[in-house]
Amino acid sequence: MKRKKLVAANWKMNLTLQEGEALISALLSGLPDQPTCDILIAPPFTHLQTALTQTRNSPIGVAAQHCHEQASGAYTGEVSAEMLKSLGIRFVITGHSERRQLFHEDDNRVRQKVDAIVRAGLTPIFCCGEPMEIREAGKQVEYVREQLKSGLFHLAPALFERVIIAYEPIWAIGTGQTATPEQAQEMHLAIRNEVADRYFSKAGEELRILYGGSVKADNAQSIFSMPDVDGSLVGGASLDADSFLKIIDAAC
Ligand code: PGA
Repeated sequence: MKRKKLVAANWKMNLTLQEGEALISALLSGLPDQPTCDILIAPPFTHLQTALTQTRNSPIGVAAQHCHEQASGAYTGEVSAEMLKSLGIRFVITGHSERRQLFHEDDNRVRQKVDAIVRAGLTPIFCCGEPMEIREAGKQVEYVREQLKSGLFHLAPALFERVIIAYEPIWAIGTGQTATPEQAQEMHLAIRNEVADRYFSKAGEELRILYGGSVKADNAQSIFSMPDVDGSLVGGASLDADSFLKIIDAAC
């Protein structure tokens, strides 16, 4: 089956509201008329409403970078999946290595967030990926398999259908050191096979698996040419309209 490619921008904690608006305007004016791939941007919480308004009736969808696992309550500073849903958000990134490392979100917490996201009827973009020492030890597939098992594979098949996975080797994030297309392909195929084993082969075939980690305008094409790479989660290169448009072009 032919999976539609998806290019998602993870702005992280970058850009003021005005800078974000200017970036979205530049993207909207530079997009092809009818892009053949899906496009998402994930701005900070403070920019979501504006981003939704600006992108209404356009090919750009809006995702959140994070949510809390509870629906509501005394969690000062947090935002729930229910709240995001009430805004009109449909996608939430979870399990990003920066959340796991800097905010101590372990597998158990990531699983609870996945549950909260699907309970709200939204789509999780579930990030997984190994640190450098695990890759050097040649244990990356086992490592990612464990992340999938503990964070995702408890989902019933009907809920799993909604999931998007982003493979982001930690050593490639923000470092300029991209995985080779072959390294990405090897892991994506392993993930697809794991999913097919846990669920059924159709779930594996239909699952979109994005690659993330120093994707840029000049390496996107070779990564996207791999048969099991269905697009990308882009950090740094998504903050510049020209470079993100080139990545969209490579996917479309
Ligand atoms: P990067 O970030 O493209 O800047 O490496 C990717 C990500 O963290 O999602």
